Amino acid sequence: MFETWDVSHWRLIRQETIGADEKYWLADPNDGQAWLFKANNIHENAAGKWSQREDFAEKVGGELAAAMGIPCARIEFARLGDELGCISLNLCPEGWELQTGVVVLDGLLEEYEPGYAAGNKARRGHSLENIRRALEDHGPPPGSDVPDNFDAFDVFTGYVVFDAVVANRDRHDENWAVMRPPPGGGRPTLAGSFDHARALGSTLKEAKITSLLQGEGVPKWCHKGTAWRFEHDPERACPTLVDIASRALRMVAPAVRNHWLEGVADITTMKVASLTSRIPDMSVVVSTFIEQVVMTNRRRVLDGC
Ligand SMILES: Nc1ncnc2c1ncn2[C@@H]1O[C@H](COP(=O)(O)OP(=O)(O)OP(=O)(O)O)[C@@H](O)[C@H]1O
Ligand SMILES: [Mg+2]
Repeated sequence: MFETWDVSHWRLIRQETIGADEKYWLADPNDGQAWLFKANNIHENAAGKWSQREDFAEKVGGELAAAMGIPCARIEFARLGDELGCISLNLCPEGWELQTGVVVLDGLLEEYEPGYAAGNKARRGHSLENIRRALEDHGPPPGSDVPDNFDAFDVFTGYVVFDAVVANRDRHDENWAVMRPPPGGGRPTLAGSFDHARALGSTLKEAKITSLLQGEGVPKWCHKGTAWRFEHDPERACPTLVDIASRALRMVAPAVRNHWLEGVADITTMKVASLTSRIPDMSVVVSTFIEQVVMTNRRRVLDGC
């Protein structure tokens, strides 16, 4: 079983201000490394309380990403006082600066409107073409296990392929980033992938998951996975996550494309099941759903890309 780390007594470094929910950077007392604590969202209404399990999505997502060779933040289950959630190990090396896609695209384009702006439902500017331009001259994340000749956009392509596999519709312009070294420290890089909290249906209640598991529910649900965080025409059907992955794979060299598709092909039901079986408190309903989502999307990516 994966362990749950008690971080209640870790020193608070600072609150993270980017993102929708409250999050804290904490220092591991053993080695001083910074981890971001993200609590699971608890919902309360007349019917009672229920907790979303973003920690499941983050952990399974992180482990699957690693298995596919996607550079990504290390995730551990964590408890802070009576709050349950996960911690995400800081991707940014000491002395470097992390800048999200909003900052990067703002520097590239005239009048870039961030995706969170109310007037930018079409996510204008947040296109694969602009992201590729923004990542020119950037290297892959430091220490990542990708072939030597891969550049930053080659790796970003891996992120959108991974998103299609895990049904992550949340790759907005603050859910990818670059990292800038201190002066004289070499070239900037793409940051490893982070924030997979909305993947794998983490916002669904268990009763809904149970009904999806009956009949054609899971494939239908997977087909509804749209890439709405990327530029699209709001008057037309939004491209799916598989469409965006396919588009990105057509923008890179055949060797890059084959590399990521081989990573997808290597996923097996056994591998996913051996992962979910190590998640404490995961019900059979949720683990079955996660296995079906990943295997359905694996097939969709291999057939559609
Ligand atoms: N492992 C990490 N290393 C470095 N920075 C990180 C890491 N994880 C998150 N961040 C930074 O913290 C910000 C908020 O974290 P994250 O995106 O995980 O939270 P969130 O509240 O789920 O965001 P959202 O609003 O997208 O749901 C990110 O945009 C990024 O700038
Ligand atoms: Mg985020």
